[in-house]
Amino acid sequence: MQLEACNLKLESKIYVAGHRGLAGSAITRALAVHGYRNLVQRTHAELDLEDRAATARFFEQERPEHVVLAAAKVGGIIANYELPAEFIHQNLAIQDSVIDAARRSGVKRLLFLGTACIYPRDCPQPIREEYLLTGPLEFTNRPYAIAKIAGIEMCWAYNRQYGTQYLAVMPNNLYGPGDNYDLQHSHVLPALIRKFHEAKVAGAGSVTLWGTGAPRREMLYSDDMAEACVALMELSDAAFEKLLGGDPASPEPPLVNIGWGEDYTIRELAERVRELVGFKGGIQWDTGKPDGTPRKLLDISRMKSLGWMPRIPLETGLRSAYQDFLARFGRK
Ligand SMILES: NC(=O)c1ccc[n+]([C@@H]2O[C@H](COP(=O)([O-])OP(=O)(O)OC[C@H]3O[C@@H](n4cnc5c(N)ncnc54)[C@H](OP(=O)(O)O)[C@@H]3O)[C@@H](O)[C@H]2O)c1
Repeated sequence: MQLEACNLKLESKIYVAGHRGLAGSAITRALAVHGYRNLVQRTHAELDLEDRAATARFFEQERPEHVVLAAAKVGGIIANYELPAEFIHQNLAIQDSVIDAARRSGVKRLLFLGTACIYPRDCPQPIREEYLLTGPLEFTNRPYAIAKIAGIEMCWAYNRQYGTQYLAVMPNNLYGPGDNYDLQHSHVLPALIRKFHEAKVAGAGSVTLWGTGAPRREMLYSDDMAEACVALMELSDAAFEKLLGGDPASPEPPLVNIGWGEDYTIRELAERVRELVGFKGGIQWDTGKPDGTPRKLLDISRMKSLGWMPRIPLETGLRSAYQDFLARFGRK
């Protein structure tokens, strides 16, 4: 199939897979703000993306021109630790079915959302895109990371064989409106917000948190990540090729980091959330639980070279995330 040049237009048909999730909802909001008005959406109940045949039928019928793959099995350290089989199986299935159906139906441009966990556990900081596959991964989320690495490799292989422009974006830890506050499945910031809020409401003397509090984490507000994705979708064919090294057979992985550019210890994040929520008790660290990767700060110079900058500082983002939590789970 001959793939056309594909500069994004306001009327282009765009499919955001996972449009109700934290990342997908932010990307959907950003596309609407930028005036894109032909968005195709399916909930998980309407279309299970693990179902290859149903996904292929959907692409044949809808024929989106651009795709953002933000549907995935996602969770924090506890979920990754306890459900390793689900993390590798579901993510491989979703990616395989969406990326292949997109190519078969003629989609030239696709953004595949991955995660900073794909990088080696002990790689130099800040982490540059070329550190991919240069060392062993962190054990606690290795099944998830390997599924995501397979997705990057799939984008890379399809670009080489079929002339597509499938790009993997690697945001660091996200937080923002619509986050998941289920303690078994949530990431670090939503878990902190919920734990401190509930401890305050219950009048508890202390809150117990996993690990030592020493690992460092970079946090990015979801709307900043979404603006980066729109900027990447709006690249011309020529700018896109340049980003990938100017050659579809380039040794550069089709990969772009998206982050805030600074990180904090979990202990610092916990203190900030405690203050924001107004919890007066103490913090106990359950050091028998794993810490995960000691540090993962992304080098975002590739993304910045396109003129994008993150704009929402942690203080502002945290306030708005807490407001969202209160609005959804009760202002007690
Ligand atoms: N959250 C973060 O901190 C973070 C950081 C970096 C990268 N990312 C990346 O961003 C992407 C999305 O993450 P997120 O945090 O937005 O996750 P999320 O809030 O859990 O949303 C995931 C979305 O995918 C949908 N989904 C899951 N399985 C599906 C299936 N089989 N068929 C159809 N839809 C399915 C979910 O629908 P249901 O809810 O209806 O099941 C949900 O809308 C992931 O690729 C993740 O790696 C996230």
